[in-house]
Amino acid sequence: MQTVNTLIESVKNEVIGWRRHIHQYPDLTFNEQKTANYIYEQLEKIEGLQLSRPTPTSVTAYLAGAQSGKTIALRGDIDALPITECSGETFSSTNTGVMHACGHDAHAAMLLGAAKVLAQLKAQIKGNVLFIFQPAEEVPPGGAKELVEKGVLDNVDMIFGLHVFPNIETGKISLKRRVFSASSDNFDITIKGVGGHGSMPQNCIDPITIGAEVVSALQQIVARNLDPLHAPVLTVATFQAGDSYNVIPTTAHLAGTLRTHNKDVRQKVPQLMERIVAGITQAHGADYEFKWTTGYTIGDNAEETCDIAQQVITNVVGEDNLIIASAPMFGSEDFSSYQEKVPGCFLFMGSGNKAKGTTVGLHNAKFILDEDVLDIGVKMHVGFVQQLLIS
Ligand code: NI
Repeated sequence: MQTVNTLIESVKNEVIGWRRHIHQYPDLTFNEQKTANYIYEQLEKIEGLQLSRPTPTSVTAYLAGAQSGKTIALRGDIDALPITECSGETFSSTNTGVMHACGHDAHAAMLLGAAKVLAQLKAQIKGNVLFIFQPAEEVPPGGAKELVEKGVLDNVDMIFGLHVFPNIETGKISLKRRVFSASSDNFDITIKGVGGHGSMPQNCIDPITIGAEVVSALQQIVARNLDPLHAPVLTVATFQAGDSYNVIPTTAHLAGTLRTHNKDVRQKVPQLMERIVAGITQAHGADYEFKWTTGYTIGDNAEETCDIAQQVITNVVGEDNLIIASAPMFGSEDFSSYQEKVPGCFLFMGSGNKAKGTTVGLHNAKFILDEDVLDIGVKMHVGFVQQLLIS
C-alpha cells in the first residue's frame, strides 16, 4: 500500500498540470483532435502501454499485467461544451465559446495519472487494464456507442467510470446501485394545417390551436397511461409556429425529450404519443409528422461492480464519506452504452467546496473545479485495479 500511495503522490502535480492544459485547450464533441493528440503524447511517455486510436478523436491504452487474469476497463470522457467560460481561472479556455464545464478535463487527467501509476505496478498485476479516453459524451449518439461498435470492449470483463460533481462535498463519493441515470430520447412533431389570413380562420386549419391541444394532451400519458411508480419526464421544450400578427401559419413544430428509468416505459411512450398526435390532428382535419430520435440508454450499475466500487470508496475516502444514493438522476450519461455490453459501475465524486467557491453546477460558465478531487480520482481508478487484479 505504501508503494502505491507513494506512486500516487508522485503524479499529483502532473495530474493538475494535465488537467489545466486540457482545460485551457478544450475541444467540442466529436472534434477532440487536439485533446486526443495531447493525451496520446502524454501516454507515449509512459513505459509499458500499448496505445491505439480506435476512432479519430479517441485514445485507448492497454496495460498487460505480468500474469494473466481479467481485463478491467477504466473510462474518462474528454469533450467540452459550447459555453463561453466565465470562471476567472488563470488557465481559462483559449478556445472562445468552448469550455470544460462538465469536468471532462479532470476525468482525462485522473485517468492519465492512474495509467502512469498502474504502469509502474505492472509486475504485480494479474490481468490487464484498458484505459479508455472517450470523446463525445455530451451529444448523442455519443462516443461510447461508437467505441463499443469498434470492439473496444470485446475482451473486457468489467468497466468503471467516474464523474466529478460539485453538488456533493469534495471528499464524498456517491454510489447508486442499479439504475443511476435516465434514457434520453428526443422527438419532433410537425402539425400540418392550412395557413391563411388571421381574420379568416374559417378558411384555415390552425396548427397553433391544434398544437396547444397536443402539448396538454401529451401529459395525459404521464398522468394516466403509465404506472405512476415508473413515471417518466416528458417535456415539450420547443413550440415554433408563425411570425406575424395576422397570418395563421401552415405548420407548427413541437420538439422535446423523454427521460425514463424504465425500459418498458421507454418502449411504450412513442406509440402513445403518436396516437394522441394522430387523434388530435385528425379531429381537426390536420396532418402530422412524428419523428423519434433515440438517445442514450438507461444507465445501470451492475450489482457485482457496485460491491467492488463500495469497497474501493471505503478504502479511498472512508465509510463516512460513502453516499449510497436512493434515487437515480433524470440526467443521462453515455457510459450506459458500455454497461449494455459488460457489467460496469459509474460513480459521482464530490467536488464542491463552499470555501473555495467550487459549488457552481456543471454546464455553468462559472463552473470551477476543486482540484483536490483529482487525487481522489486517481486513487479510485488505481483502487479498482488493486481490488480486482492485485493481491
Ligand atoms: Ni459530464
